Amino acid sequence: MTGTMNLRSRAQLLGCVLGLRSLALVLWGIPGARALDNGLAMTPTMGWLHWERFMCNTDCEEDPDSCVSEKLFMQMADLMDSEGWRDVGYEYLCIDDCWMAPQRDSKGRLQADPKRFPGGIRRLADYVHGKGLKLGIYADVGKLTCAGFPGSYGYYDIDAKTFADWGVDLLKFDGCHFDTLVDLADGYKYMSLALNRTGRSIVYSCEWPLYMMPFRKNVGSRKAGNLSDFITVSLAYGAGLVVRWLSSHVPLGVCQFGSRVRTWHRLARHAVPNYTEVREYCNHWRNFADIYDAWQSVKSVLDWTSSNQEKIVDAAGPGGWNDPDMLVIGNFGLSWDQQITQMALWAIMAAPLFMSNDLRQISPQAKALLQDKDVIAINQDPLGKQGYRLRKEDNIEVWERPLSDFAWAVAMVNLQEIGGPRFHTISLASLGGGLACLPACLITELLPVKGKLGFYEWTSSLKLRINPTGTVLLRLDRTN
Ligand code: GLA
Repeated sequence: MTGTMNLRSRAQLLGCVLGLRSLALVLWGIPGARALDNGLAMTPTMGWLHWERFMCNTDCEEDPDSCVSEKLFMQMADLMDSEGWRDVGYEYLCIDDCWMAPQRDSKGRLQADPKRFPGGIRRLADYVHGKGLKLGIYADVGKLTCAGFPGSYGYYDIDAKTFADWGVDLLKFDGCHFDTLVDLADGYKYMSLALNRTGRSIVYSCEWPLYMMPFRKNVGSRKAGNLSDFITVSLAYGAGLVVRWLSSHVPLGVCQFGSRVRTWHRLARHAVPNYTEVREYCNHWRNFADIYDAWQSVKSVLDWTSSNQEKIVDAAGPGGWNDPDMLVIGNFGLSWDQQITQMALWAIMAAPLFMSNDLRQISPQAKALLQDKDVIAINQDPLGKQGYRLRKEDNIEVWERPLSDFAWAVAMVNLQEIGGPRFHTISLASLGGGLACLPACLITELLPVKGKLGFYEWTSSLKLRINPTGTVLLRLDRTN
C-alpha cells in the first residue's frame, strides 16, 4: 500500500499522524480509572501458583512429592531463590485451594490441614519470607471453596485478620458457593475492606467478574451457580436494557411497577461486571474460565480477551489488572511454539504472571522462556497499558501494546494449524495508530529468536515467518 502512495497524500497522512501523536501525548498523561488504593500491584504481579499443575492432590501417602503440602511449597521456595526465578521478578509463592483442614478451629479461624502443613501457615510464611519471597493464600467468598473446604462467608473479618497474623501477602479470593449476585459483590467488596483494615499489605486477587458471567453458571453443581442465579443473570442481561429504558421513560409515581423496576435495575447492575468498581476493590480479577494445559485452552483465553477487549482493556492499569489465569509453560500440553505464544501474549495483555508448573523438573528451554528479561520487561512496563488485538486477517492475528518512552510491543500469531510456517507482511505505518515507527524505529525480535532486525522507516514494511500456533514478538523503539 505504502509503495503506491503519491508524495502529496503521504505528506497529508504524515501531518495527520503528527497531529494524532500530539493528542496521544496528552491522553497518555491522563491516569486511568481509580485503582484499589493499597499501593500494590503497580505492575502485574509475578509468582507461582499451585493450582493448574498440582490441583487438589491431598494424598500425601500415595503421592508425597506432589501433594498440596508445606513440603511442596518449601521446595518451590528454595528453587525460586536458587534458580533465579525471584531475581527476574517471580516473587509471590501462592497456595491455591485444598490447603485447609475441613473444619475451622474453636475460635472460628481457618486452619491448615495439620498432616500436610504440620508447621502451619505462619511457619511457612516465615520460611518463604526468609527466601526473599512473599506468600499467597486462597479462600472463597461463599460458604465453601470450589473444592468443598470452608468458605469465608460470614467470616470475612476473622479470615482477613488470620491471614494478616500469619504474614500472608496475597489473597486469591474465589467465588464458588454464593447465594445471590448481590452477596457475591458485597462479599468481594467486604473482603477488600477487611484486608485493608488489617493494616498489612495484601495483594487482593479476585474472581468476581468471572462468577457473574452466565456461561460460568452452567459449569456443573460443584460451582456456585444455581438455576435461579442463572436465570437472574440471563434475564438481567436482557432486562437491563429494557429496565434502563423504562426507568427513564415511565414516571415511577404513575407506574405501579416502580419498586419492581428498581429491583430489576439493581439485579441488572449486579449481573454485568462494572470494571470501574472491580478495579476499586481488586488488584487483579479473573474474567474467564480456568486455564488448563492445552492449546485449546490458551486459544480460548485469547479469543475471549480479543472479543471483549472494548470492555476490559481500559480497566487495566497500575494497581489493577485483568487476569487471564496461570502460565502453563513448562508442563505437558503445549508445543514449543504454543508456549512462546502464551508468554508473548501474556506480556502483551499486561497479565499477572503466575506460573503453574513443577520447578523441580522444568526443561532449560521452558525456564529460559519464562525467565526472558526482555519479554518480562514488556509485561512489567511501567506505563501499565494493556495491549489489544489490532486485526485478524487470514488466520494471522496482530496484537500491539503501547510501552513507556513511546515504544511498542507487537505480536503476530499464526493461528492456522495446518501446513508449515507462513509469511506475513506488516506495514509499519499501520502500527500504534501510525505512531509506533514514526519517523523511524529500531525493531528487535524478542521471540522466537532474539536479535535486532535493524532500523526501519515509517513507510516501510516488514516480512516475517511465523510457525503454526506460534508467535513472533517484536519491540519497536522509535528513533527521532
Ligand atoms: C476455581 C478457580 C481456579 C481454582 C479452583 C480451586 O475453579 O477458578 O483457579 O482456584 O477453583 O478449586
